[in-house]
Amino acid sequence: MRTEGETRPAASSDPERIDLNEVVLALSDALDLVGSHVVQHGKRVAFMAASCGRSLALEESERSDLLLAAVLHDCGVSSTRLHARLLEADLAFEEARGHAEAGAELLRRFEPLSRVAAIVGLHHTPWDSGERRAADPRVALLANLVFLADRVDALLQARRGSDPLLATDELRRWVFVRTGSLFSEEAVGAFLATSAAEAFWLTLETHHLERALRDEMRLEQSRSVPASALEDLALVFAEIVDAKSRFTAAHSVGVARLAALLGRLAGFDPRTSSHLRVAGLLHDLGKLRVPDEVLDKEAPLDEGEFAKIERHAFETFQILRRVEPLREIATWAGYHHEGLSGKGYPFHRRAEEIPLPARLLAIADIFQALAQRRPYRGPLGPEAILDHLRRFVEAGKLDPRGVELVAANLAACYRAATLDGDAGRGERTSPA
Ligand SMILES: [Fe+2]
Ligand SMILES: [Fe+2]
Ligand SMILES: [Fe+2]
Repeated sequence: MRTEGETRPAASSDPERIDLNEVVLALSDALDLVGSHVVQHGKRVAFMAASCGRSLALEESERSDLLLAAVLHDCGVSSTRLHARLLEADLAFEEARGHAEAGAELLRRFEPLSRVAAIVGLHHTPWDSGERRAADPRVALLANLVFLADRVDALLQARRGSDPLLATDELRRWVFVRTGSLFSEEAVGAFLATSAAEAFWLTLETHHLERALRDEMRLEQSRSVPASALEDLALVFAEIVDAKSRFTAAHSVGVARLAALLGRLAGFDPRTSSHLRVAGLLHDLGKLRVPDEVLDKEAPLDEGEFAKIERHAFETFQILRRVEPLREIATWAGYHHEGLSGKGYPFHRRAEEIPLPARLLAIADIFQALAQRRPYRGPLGPEAILDHLRRFVEAGKLDPRGVELVAANLAACYRAATLDGDAGRGERTSPA
């Protein structure tokens, strides 16, 4: 961890390194989309947990871990239905265990965040359980702070619409009576101390939260990671998106692999190809907001449902553009439903405004989707996919040169789009 996630001042100007806090904060926007109408759950939990951490005078590295774990604590949740259930007050520990473990598993795979995986894995574990007693005591305390903040937010959201200041006494009492059972004495003490101030509750309101969280993060020494680690982090998020619907398993990963292959065939340098792969991995981030029942619907979508799906490319763009080094990737990913005729969505860009990487990504997206089963049709083979792509060229949607690259390398393209297992990093060698 110390080598990859070495500590350095925030806002590093080294273009080859990326500020991990910045990326995590942007990606927390993506996770928060899963809440559909309950927005910013992750950020509120992070602010509350960090405030408790401050009152406990935790060490700097612990505070940093606490913040990252709290922001990402629900990364194992991509289903809107599950997200809603997790915010219900009567949620049982056993019901919540699956997403905590899934989140920990995801984070374990990205080295710079792997040290917070254990915290995420325990974020619904009651203090008086054997599992907690068996855990590392510092991890258990940090996880308990996240747990406490998570439950307080669930109760707060149940009172959405009324002034939070009217609920503070009741919420503080709710936490207090669970000392020793759900929460540790230390965590409850910290919460009672910090939540005595009205400012604690008022900061949770949308228009103050983001700034407060940034302040918390700025207080921490930010970790910067090499830009090359971006692919690994993007892969974690691609898996969160792909897990959303059984129909889209490995979609983002396949799109990334095919887009990178097309990039290399088009003669892109390794850096551009790598960015294109990241754009492929993240292009459907905004889909986290689409309700499960819309993505899984077997009948044709109605107008309202289609509108819910259509906004995903815009959400993807907005999330990624917040991080300066991801600007180019944001554009490519955000344009994956634009068409050369100017009739794509959501920006209606004209042909000359759509860069080649975005055009290749659009081709990879359609190719991969056609190769997969959807609720309303079976998977298509390579030749049938190519027919469809050519029709899209005729309709002025797809780039003709890109589709010709596909035609000339059809078998390799099909393999790249459909191969499971090599998690988006395949096809690095010449496709021949
Ligand atoms: Fe949560
Ligand atoms: Fe899309
Ligand atoms: Fe897609």
